[in-house]
Amino acid sequence: MERLVINGGKVLKGSVNITGAKNAAVAILPAAIIASEGKCIIDNIPDIEDVHCLERILLSLGCIVKKIDNNTLEIDATNVNNLDACTEDVRRMRASYYFIGALLTRFKKARVELPGGCPIGVRPIDQHIKGFEALGAEVVIEHGAVIINAKELKAANIFFDVVSVGATINVMIAATLAEGTTVLENVAKEPHVVDVANFLNTMGADVKGAGTDIIRVRGVEKLTGCNYSVIPDQIEAGTFMIAAVATRGDVTISNVIPKHLESISAKLIEMGATVEEGDDSVRVTVEGELKGVNVKTAPYPGFPTDVQQPMAALLSIVPGKSLISESIWENRHKHADELNKMGANIKVEGRTAIIEGCESLVGALVTATDLRAGAAMVIAGLMAKGKTEIVEIEHIDRGYPHIEDKFRELGADIRREVR
Ligand code: EPU
Repeated sequence: MERLVINGGKVLKGSVNITGAKNAAVAILPAAIIASEGKCIIDNIPDIEDVHCLERILLSLGCIVKKIDNNTLEIDATNVNNLDACTEDVRRMRASYYFIGALLTRFKKARVELPGGCPIGVRPIDQHIKGFEALGAEVVIEHGAVIINAKELKAANIFFDVVSVGATINVMIAATLAEGTTVLENVAKEPHVVDVANFLNTMGADVKGAGTDIIRVRGVEKLTGCNYSVIPDQIEAGTFMIAAVATRGDVTISNVIPKHLESISAKLIEMGATVEEGDDSVRVTVEGELKGVNVKTAPYPGFPTDVQQPMAALLSIVPGKSLISESIWENRHKHADELNKMGANIKVEGRTAIIEGCESLVGALVTATDLRAGAAMVIAGLMAKGKTEIVEIEHIDRGYPHIEDKFRELGADIRREVR
């Protein structure tokens, strides 16, 4: 088993390059299946375990997948011959649900095992199913798999009951080849929703309005291969911004879209840090004292739920009281117990973490209970006195590419050990 070992107390300095967005890439790769002609060459793909999982699933369906380099894949979906996505890889990850929308639109049928993913609360897919049914599909769930069939797909007006990233993207994908113009309302506006829409349009789809409350998808005859580059990862960038503040460092986070980081920048500035925006970078520094803040997670453009756990690690050493209210997931504070093992003072009441800032954290053996909890532990380890060992880091590897190398380049004392 691998673990991360961190000797805390080093000030992070320098520049770090952010890679492509995980939550965009994990939708774009399944969507590449819709191209019935030509190859998709997709770059700026993060080199993470969730992407490796998707590569294996694409191969199992009959795609030809070539790795051009660590961040570029060529996918030829011309000869997909298996519509049954029921492997361990499909069960392991959340984003495998995008194969339902992609296979449905191209082949009008599929069998896809129900997705897994981080244990952060109940993760229903009723809104995805509601959208597929509105387009004319029949859906049954049998032996843990979604079985979906349609004679034909026809455009529909769909109003989502909850704002869901996954349902918005999945139904947008499914509507690309449906006859007529589908209107999706109460949709998610995250940067990765817009990125997937741009990818579909580059393949020949006609998707308008992504990034606003209403998306319109006019069905086209077919989609074909294309060249595409994934947007930078808002969450990886946010994690490094927080780490810079946590170590009172001076870090330039490069290859980002500063607009996507505004809610995070605003919170760090409210705490007393300085964030200077460049064209495609942000520089994060701290001079004076930091103060506690309240954070409420919300769909984009609100503060991202995926960044609240790293934020909790930082707030654990900031003087005063801070509150983190999680409005998306019902159980996303498991990292609190792990931070408390390091001396933090966090109480969880319902979906709110109440943090009383302590003087400093002390290294301990802690667990990455999920992906972003793992990032929180890394930040805690960087701030703590002495040695921190983080186990179950396979969660971190699902979403952060080469995390220890990136932090080491900024001056952290962090290494991966196999035991
Ligand atoms: N929801 C429903 N029904 C549905 C779908 C969602 O009730 O059919 C609810 C969920 O239970 C949740 C809320 O709607 O309370 C939002 O869920 P959403 O569908 O937006 O989440 P997701 O698509 O499953 C993606 C990211 C998550 C990120 C959320 C919110 C991927 C693969 N995952 O999940 O990322 O937290 O959006 O932004 O894109 C992560 O990267 O660490 C991560 C968990």
